[in-house]
Amino acid sequence: PFDVELARSGVVLTVPPHRTVLEALDDVGVEVLSSCRQGVCGTCEVTVLAGEPDHRDALLDDDERRAGGCMFVCVSRARSDRLVLDL
Ligand code: FES
Repeated sequence: PFDVELARSGVVLTVPPHRTVLEALDDVGVEVLSSCRQGVCGTCEVTVLAGEPDHRDALLDDDERRAGGCMFVCVSRARSDRLVLDL
């Protein structure tokens, strides 16, 4: 599990292994638009302010992954204990 902090509200939620970040956000009423839910369309892009995402999408190239700054919350998870998202 890892924590996701929502920068605008200060809410912190825990994402268990069997839930996606997108689902965990939905659980607390934070709506992020999504479409494919497989990491291929790009609809669910969220800005990452801190923490290290574990990118599992098929969209970002290596340079973009290294640079950080965004993630696709339908599939990607976290390498760090906490991600801070611009939500
Ligand atoms: Fe398509 Fe996340 S919903 S990449």
